Amino acid sequence: MTALSMTTAEIIRTRAGSAPVEVAIVLGSGLGPLADRVEGATAIPYADLPGFPQGGVSGHQSRLVVGQLGGRRVAVLSGREHYYENGNAAAMRPALETVQALGAGRLILTNAAGSFRPEVGPTSIVVHSDYVNWSGRNPLIGEHGDERFVDMREAYDPALRAALKGVAHRLGIPHHEGVYFWFSGPTFESPAEIRAMNILGADLVGMSTVPEVILARRLKLRVAALSMVTNFAAGMAGAEISHADTKAVAARGGAAMAALIIGLLEDGA
Ligand code: HPA
Repeated sequence: MTALSMTTAEIIRTRAGSAPVEVAIVLGSGLGPLADRVEGATAIPYADLPGFPQGGVSGHQSRLVVGQLGGRRVAVLSGREHYYENGNAAAMRPALETVQALGAGRLILTNAAGSFRPEVGPTSIVVHSDYVNWSGRNPLIGEHGDERFVDMREAYDPALRAALKGVAHRLGIPHHEGVYFWFSGPTFESPAEIRAMNILGADLVGMSTVPEVILARRLKLRVAALSMVTNFAAGMAGAEISHADTKAVAARGGAAMAALIIGLLEDGA
């Protein structure tokens, strides 16, 4: 635990109460409304939390919400820092270390993504089964000691994935699993890049999440990640891809995503 994360955790406890947090949830573009479902909520702007992202991307709320969701005490990070903002792959490290200092042992990551699968169109939800980091970047570069050599065979926790599958089935939410390919952004991909990623095994593409998965596994958090598909990957459909559409489509699919996450929390996984 770092001094920074201990300081920030203390600020959060002073404002939100000292009961330990069980699960941390990171909300992606357009998925902010889940934070409004938190009961007994204390919302703290990131600006008040040392180490938390201080920039901001439209569609992100830049606040931490602590309270009860699905019967668990949660810390909802409404907004993240992406690699493309400052070129820092480890930008989310202090925030993740802070939620761990608050007690969180599980991390649910969400994002908006492009889909490679014709049968998995906009507003589909996809649970990540694995990822491709073809960027040459890694948030653990520069760290010393043997702990940096993290095993990634089960980056996504098998029990959480199985529980998500069960909840999706129970709630009648179509269930897909897929491999998420991290692309730095902030440009969307070129059609040639998408063809290359397809050969490399991508089911989804997006600009976030993978650095957080790596950081979280370094911290030994159990991780699940979910994408809201907002568009087909570049060149697959004729349409232009835009951040405005990403936000609008993610908002349309947000209720199902919220139901799935709340169901997962209720199931106790
Ligand atoms: N590419 C990268 N990031 C995204 C996309 C995409 O097609 N859609 C939503 N986020």
